[in-house]
Amino acid sequence: MHATLPPVSFDPDHGIAVLRTPNSLYALRLAADGSPRHLSWGPPVDTSTLAEVPDAVSPAASSFESDAAADELAPQTGARFGPAGLQVRFADGTRGAQWRFAGHRVDGGELRLLLDDRHRPLRAALCYRVRSDTDVIERWTELTHTGPADGPPDPVTVDRLDSASWTAPPLPDYRLSHLVGGWNSEFRLQRDRLPVAETVLTSRRGLTGHHASPWLALDDGTAAEDRGEVWSTALAWSGSWRVTVHRDPGGRTTWTGGFGHEGLQWTLRPGETLRTPVYAGLYTAHGFGAASRAWHQYVRAHVLPEPERDRPVLYNSWEATGFEVDEAGQIRLARLASRVGAELFVLDDGWFGTRRDDRSGLGDWTPRPEAFPRGLRPLVDEVHGLGMEFGLWVEPEMVNRDSALYRAHPEWVLHSPRLDATELRNQLVLNFARPEVEAWAAETLDRLVRENDVDWLKWDANRAFTEAGWDGHPDPDRLWIDHTRAVHRVMDGLRAAHPGLRIEACAGGGGRVDLGVLARTDQAWTSDNTDPVDRIGIQHGFGQLFPAQAMAAWVTDSPNTATGRRTPLRFRFHVAMAGALGLGGDLTSWSEEELAATAELVAVYKEIRPLVQRGLQYRVAEGPVTAVHYAAPDDSEHALLTWRPTTRFGHPAAPVRLPALDPGARYRDLDSDRVHSGAALVRHGIDPRLPAGDHAGSLIRLRRVGS
Ligand code: GLA
Repeated sequence: MHATLPPVSFDPDHGIAVLRTPNSLYALRLAADGSPRHLSWGPPVDTSTLAEVPDAVSPAASSFESDAAADELAPQTGARFGPAGLQVRFADGTRGAQWRFAGHRVDGGELRLLLDDRHRPLRAALCYRVRSDTDVIERWTELTHTGPADGPPDPVTVDRLDSASWTAPPLPDYRLSHLVGGWNSEFRLQRDRLPVAETVLTSRRGLTGHHASPWLALDDGTAAEDRGEVWSTALAWSGSWRVTVHRDPGGRTTWTGGFGHEGLQWTLRPGETLRTPVYAGLYTAHGFGAASRAWHQYVRAHVLPEPERDRPVLYNSWEATGFEVDEAGQIRLARLASRVGAELFVLDDGWFGTRRDDRSGLGDWTPRPEAFPRGLRPLVDEVHGLGMEFGLWVEPEMVNRDSALYRAHPEWVLHSPRLDATELRNQLVLNFARPEVEAWAAETLDRLVRENDVDWLKWDANRAFTEAGWDGHPDPDRLWIDHTRAVHRVMDGLRAAHPGLRIEACAGGGGRVDLGVLARTDQAWTSDNTDPVDRIGIQHGFGQLFPAQAMAAWVTDSPNTATGRRTPLRFRFHVAMAGALGLGGDLTSWSEEELAATAELVAVYKEIRPLVQRGLQYRVAEGPVTAVHYAAPDDSEHALLTWRPTTRFGHPAAPVRLPALDPGARYRDLDSDRVHSGAALVRHGIDPRLPAGDHAGSLIRLRRVGS
């Protein structure tokens, strides 16, 4: 960033605000009616020209068209016929706000635009934050009922309060990249031409969701991994959400997003403020790969709590023992895990209450006497004695009807007592929006961690919300916001009370992964599907936004428990090494040779861990052969992971080009000892040395040896 240019500036004469990041510029302008309209989002431009940008005009001068200048957050008034990011109703039935610009505040990299309703006591603050080390712009909204707290109640009903609306410049065409999936098949990248329509991406599940993700990228249809302009956004929210992308027939594309799905309403009383989560946006001129690296860098610098800490190689016993856990069996696994180099042993489901299967026990977070007659201590001590950390699975937001907790507090569930509560996986959801439930969870987890010296919690959530209601509460839909906030708060409280404690986010695999949950967890369980063939695609989608250090990836048994597919151990390792490596198989059934190979591959992973977990990631091949290159930021070390799930006759694996290398440098291949010129690796690539046959994977390590 140019030293003399402030990150945020506001020109009162022209009503233009400008936000600068190292490689992008964002500008907006106040319209004649006082509402902020989008002006520019793209490469840095000479800001003196912004005042000359003509007002957008409707394609036809008619009484039917939308006001052509896109809003920074559209209220439901005026000639605005697209999706409204702010939808309010007043006690007399009137809908929609009409703004009067009430001033702005600049504080370092933060800009707040204050908008007062012309007729009612309502104020919106549109908030922006830029930083000098990232091109990501953070935006959120604060809506305040400015009526006196002791005046007439006159509540405002909020039908929609988005964090931000974003606008892409006019492009000849638009393409939308987003993530879709389901349980066991999360994060599948979908890249389609954007229809001239409103396209809704949403979760109505109370969780971020397996089926959609609040991330998207937009381009003109010609961007590639290494080139092209990309506009990308991600919402920092772990509950229900909604993003509406509107490509109008006039050629303009805007999208508006925030927490909550359609149909919810929240009440704002005099003196109250509703603050939205951050909706972050990123512009890059250099393709999808650069967009992902910019997101990864942002997540490390400004989202993850402890980005510099190595993610440990964990062992998790779920796929090995299921609910059949007991002290002796877990100790046997722990010893094997430590032998092959695991640094953390995680005891999964089945250890508590009366939990012998998924029908009972959730809510009763004390060791199951038949499984752990002496409590968890002997196992914890054994694990610590083996030099590993100890981790424990919990699912604090859930309860089985067959539990002491439910019997004591049936009213704590979030399902409306006037409806039949749908059970999913035989469980119900606790209403964390109730202060007493949040307090119970905070205290229960705190005790569990303290009494058992727990180093790691795997925080799971294995069902979506249904029939959500809050009997007797004046604002029952608040639970859709306040539940999520309470989950975040309990996680924050645990981390604050137990420095060093790490938390893994999980919701039946990757059902709750977003910038909100990653601000208080260290990594996410990517998917319950650990089949390496399926994982290649899942990991590809995950990595569009999230860095590898946040992507838990286990090596498990063959045949795979989810798909039944048999794959060689080395292939399983090469795929899982692309993230935070873990082991999840039944090690007691692995042969001595497999255990020895495992120990060797775990050791190799530890060598490349700094590159994978903290390096720059380049997706260098996609298709029948997929390859990911991890580079040390100083170019000293490199790792290339290549996978070929199936062979095709007549299609030998082509050399993999490594465009991120320095063409003027030389690199030693640490396994073959050959020295390659950077220029040759950039232009012609390197043979990935895949073994023959299906399910082939390889790792190539390069070290810069000078120029
Ligand atoms: C979820 C998780 C799994 C495992 C089970 C336990 O499905 O994603 O990893 O913890 O719950 O019931």
